[in-house]
Amino acid sequence: MNEYSIQTRNLNLWYGDFQALKNISTDILKGKITSLIGPSGCGKTTLLRCFNRVNERYGNVRTTGEIKILDKNIYDSDISLIELRKAVGMVFQRPNPLPISVYENIVFGLRIHSGERNWQKSELDEAVESALKGVSLWNDLKDKLQAKATSLLLEQQQKLCIARLLPLKPQVILMDEPCSALDADATKRVEDLMRELAGEYTILIVTHNMMQARRVSEECLFMMLGELVEHAPTETIFSSPKDSRTADYIEGRYG
Ligand SMILES: Nc1ncnc2c1ncn2[C@@H]1O[C@H](COP(=O)(O)OP(=O)(O)O)[C@@H](O)[C@H]1O
Ligand SMILES: [Mg+2]
Repeated sequence: MNEYSIQTRNLNLWYGDFQALKNISTDILKGKITSLIGPSGCGKTTLLRCFNRVNERYGNVRTTGEIKILDKNIYDSDISLIELRKAVGMVFQRPNPLPISVYENIVFGLRIHSGERNWQKSELDEAVESALKGVSLWNDLKDKLQAKATSLLLEQQQKLCIARLLPLKPQVILMDEPCSALDADATKRVEDLMRELAGEYTILIVTHNMMQARRVSEECLFMMLGELVEHAPTETIFSSPKDSRTADYIEGRYG
């Protein structure tokens, strides 16, 4: 069994003439939380979006190099983008549930990913309960399954956005500044949730909050101007970074 979920080798990405990722080679530990930090515009979101090949939606994007997810090169011609995006789920800065019920948000993925299959109501009910339990929302929402998801508290919306990935049995969950719309208490609870999900899932989180990186992640990647400057255990990054640019950033000298 590979101990890494994601491995990149010499990954480069251009938006038109602008090179946003430069020669990134890294190995992301399986079942752990890894955080991605660095000044605004350094390429964190771009790197995250490589892992489910969503960048390709943004026209005029060119990528070179290799990305392996669970030992499979995701640029191989036989890769299914649908399967890839089931295996690699994503959560965004602003919670973005669909403007339909809690229940329908959770079964949506199952329905669109299962083609002609007819789901029994009991199977769907079970998927909903299990996904909501997976994010500790079951008690709060079991009597509100028909409520419109967009009417929930932001914290519940964000947890629901995580919950709706779970029925698809993802290997990796990408989170792009998932707490930036939440207050401090809600942030703490979402961090608790990430810790519960780690182990079963590999979590990659972009954060501009260095304390958050320190609290939740086992390993940390520091990026600058499209380069991966340093990748090390989080404690090492914060207590004895090797690169002076990392030290300057975590001491708040820029960014
Ligand atoms: N769709 C796009 N088209 C052109 N340039 C982009 C696009 N998305 C991001 N960029 C540029 O790529 C660089 C990295 O952006 P991004 O990955 O969003 O950084 P971060 O998430 O670290 O703030 C920035 O200079 C940004 O302006
Ligand atoms: Mg970003």
